[in-house]
Amino acid sequence: KVYSKKDRLSTTLSDFLREKAIGGDPTMRDLEAIFSGIQSACRSIADMVGKAGIQDMTGMAGTGENVQGEEQKKLDILSNDVFKDKLTKSGCMAYLGSEEEDEAIRITGKFGGDYIAVFDPLDGSSNIDAAISVGTIFGIYKGAKNAEEFPLKKGSEQVAAGYCMYSTCTILMITIGDGVNGFTLDSSSGEFVLTHPNVAMPKRGKIYSCNQGNIPAWPESLKTYFDKICRGEGESKTKYGLRYIGSMVGDMHRTLLYGGLFLYPADAKNKNGKLRLLYEASPMAMLAEQAGGKASTGKERVLDIEPQELHQRVPIFIGSADDVDEACKYA
Ligand code: AHG
Ligand code: MN
Ligand code: MN
Ligand code: MN
Repeated sequence: KVYSKKDRLSTTLSDFLREKAIGGDPTMRDLEAIFSGIQSACRSIADMVGKAGIQDMTGMAGTGENVQGEEQKKLDILSNDVFKDKLTKSGCMAYLGSEEEDEAIRITGKFGGDYIAVFDPLDGSSNIDAAISVGTIFGIYKGAKNAEEFPLKKGSEQVAAGYCMYSTCTILMITIGDGVNGFTLDSSSGEFVLTHPNVAMPKRGKIYSCNQGNIPAWPESLKTYFDKICRGEGESKTKYGLRYIGSMVGDMHRTLLYGGLFLYPADAKNKNGKLRLLYEASPMAMLAEQAGGKASTGKERVLDIEPQELHQRVPIFIGSADDVDEACKYA
């Protein structure tokens, strides 16, 4: 069923998933339990992010660096704890892979299940002290039952993906493989209500989104591309503007709704770029494709990559299909 404007506000995320589960598909029933945990975790994280300044939850955790070599924020850890707890209690998980955990976590016993959740519990955490929007990104894979080690191979298929953005409002944008739908947290009811039915990304936009500070480290061809689109001399003959907030969730949310291109290319410093495949690039790539867009490393489709390591990084060009195609000619 494709949700239309008339379904807006009258459909909660729970209704949406119940309708899909009622048909008896066992994967859908499992996803209902998984998303119940995700909703609960996102409500808690939204609350923590909103009160961070009041409850002294801003700033560094003092736990030193995570496996990424980043100084962990208090909220990195708190949101990671909440997400691990709620996903474990879904009873569906075999493995959890988090940006904030060195290794994948194996779930056994009564809570053990058949799925893998990979997640970035707090994306854009460098922005948290400045009260700029941050988010959570997650991907759900099926087919991990009895796997003795974290199954990264193509064998397990990404059955759902999404993000929660904590901004002027809290929006859960999800796909279960049949399009993209967005749900906004109604703080009075605690429900995520359908506000963005059947998201379709424009084929072409006029915004590009990247950290211009890295330009000296990028290939000359990319500088040529930027020069063309900033002069209105690219394929669309439209002048492009730059929007970049440094939180992938916020930059991707705008790209999904307005169109355009988000990119974090490889550079001399980061030969595989900065963003992580499993819990940043792949979930966003599934959302982009389900909304009619594209996601490439510049050389190959992000979703064609066979992951080798939990924290591996990839370059990413993602957004409107025609913008991704054009930019990849210069990658
Ligand atoms: P995280 O806060 O989860 O470590 O992710 C930060 C990422 C992503 O959110 C953003 O697009 C990118 O880092 C910004 O990187 P630069 O500061 O290098 O532009
Ligand atoms: Mn980080
Ligand atoms: Mn991130
Ligand atoms: Mn993060």
